[in-house]
Amino acid sequence: MKNKIEELYELSAKAKLGGGQKRIDSQHAKNKFTARERIAMLLDEGSFEELDMFVTHRCTDFGLEKEHYLGDGVVTGKGTIDGRLVYVFAQDFTVFGGSLSETMAQKICKVQDLAMKMGAPIIGINDSGGARIQEGVQSLAGYAEIFQRNILASGVVPQISAIFGPCAGGAVYSPALTDFILMIEGLSYMFVTGPKVVKTVTHEEVTTEELGGAFVHAAKSGVTHFVAKTEQEGVLLIRKLISYIPQNNLEDAPLQTATDSITRIDERLNSIIPDNPNKPYDMKEIILSLVDNSEFLEVQPLYAPNIICGFSRFDGQSVGIVASQPNYIAGTLDINASRKAARFVRFCDAFNIPLLTLVDVPGFLPGTAQEYGGIIVHGAKLLYAYGEATVPKITVILRKAYGGAYDVMSSKHLRGDVNYAWPTAEIAVMGGKGAIEIVYGSEIAKITDAAEREKFIDEKMIEYRQKFSNPYVAAKYGYIDDIIEPSTTRFRIIQSLRGLATKKVLNPPKKHSNLPL
Ligand code: HXC
Repeated sequence: MKNKIEELYELSAKAKLGGGQKRIDSQHAKNKFTARERIAMLLDEGSFEELDMFVTHRCTDFGLEKEHYLGDGVVTGKGTIDGRLVYVFAQDFTVFGGSLSETMAQKICKVQDLAMKMGAPIIGINDSGGARIQEGVQSLAGYAEIFQRNILASGVVPQISAIFGPCAGGAVYSPALTDFILMIEGLSYMFVTGPKVVKTVTHEEVTTEELGGAFVHAAKSGVTHFVAKTEQEGVLLIRKLISYIPQNNLEDAPLQTATDSITRIDERLNSIIPDNPNKPYDMKEIILSLVDNSEFLEVQPLYAPNIICGFSRFDGQSVGIVASQPNYIAGTLDINASRKAARFVRFCDAFNIPLLTLVDVPGFLPGTAQEYGGIIVHGAKLLYAYGEATVPKITVILRKAYGGAYDVMSSKHLRGDVNYAWPTAEIAVMGGKGAIEIVYGSEIAKITDAAEREKFIDEKMIEYRQKFSNPYVAAKYGYIDDIIEPSTTRFRIIQSLRGLATKKVLNPPKKHSNLPL
């Protein structure tokens, strides 16, 4: 018996060495942690319980029958984050470069299935050379098994992908199917085809970093939601993200004990909107003023900064915030902003996180680039996401809500539950100048004297502003529930959230929607 127990400890010690000390040292030399070290950093201390430590690959080609490693290229199991159950897998680069074998895929699928059965989030740490070349179609089949589970888990349990090394070829599609991707500066890269193939096919010379580094995916492609400087910072970010979201689609996000006064008034908000309607201001200042303890976890901060998305709390309750940013292209809605916000709104709706929308939008961004890029379809995604969402929806119009953007940004007509406006709100079909030029175009053309023409336009603009550039017309029709003093906004939001706590709305039954893709 004693010998058998000793054997168990010997084997598990061997498994914990993955591909061996030499390869562990080489991983460390690249400034990378090993799979087990990463899991230990991510989870509550001592909470990790490993599964399938003794699995080995079954390949008998290319000499692989002589090379076996216990655990085969991925460490899987469960543990807790702040006491809450999560399932994890971390690809082990020390074993065949973390490349995906049939058995490795089976290990990943097992934790995906467990996460679904238990209703717990799943976090995957990717660091892999892609499909295990020696296994051919077995490896490709393994990927597809993982993808299928990603798809079925979507909207049921939160799925988070950390990219802590290479993630190339079809391997990128598992992270892409998950809810959030996190990359590390200078360490992670993601691309469908690498620099060598790119050079052969398109003759472009591009480095790995330029093609698929963290910054590229954070600012240009929008593939990644978070970027961290180090792996330690990355795992802390994931822990923080988990704190804002529920275990599954049937639960609410955890309520935290609030330490910020619900009646806190911020007088600065009464003067934060510039008198000149064309002058920008920083919406982030407003968000930080409204939320508990100025804590805001921004999602995709570098991508489409004209719209801000992220998580905060109000009186301890998790809330998803979507806000226009007048500081960047006047907060207009463009293709990227629409896609970014639509995905965020759909995540919050799938996981019962109420939405707060802060509006200052002069409209959709005009131009051929936008039209040729399909702003019609992409803008419709945001419209669709808001219209489909059944979570509590609170909207505050701070300044401009022009044209289609008024409708899109969680308006009353898209089942906004509580729609507030600040007295500075301007709700109209379009901005004053453009409107006057269209409505009075023929009269303006008849005025030959430039000064007189200017005077005529100014007078009409004043008339237009008096009529439309205020929230009272919309309030008259009940499209705005109340016009509130800016300094009291935090309290009003919290009161609304309390009132909406029991909200129940069901969309008509259907197989699935056909949102504009
Ligand atoms: C088998 C692999 C492997 C792979 C790496 N290794 N990738 N073994 N299959 N795909 C092994 C290496 O042989 C080596 O073994 C060890 O892992 C470490 O690899 P190195 O090359 O020494 O490491 P490094 O220099 O850091 O380079 C990492 C790398 C490179 C950039 C990832 O290994 C690489 O380019 N690998 C191939 C990537 C690739 O083309 N994959 C297929 C993509 S297509 P030893 O024994 O020396 O330690 C794909 C399709 C998926 O994935 C489709 C899904 C739908």
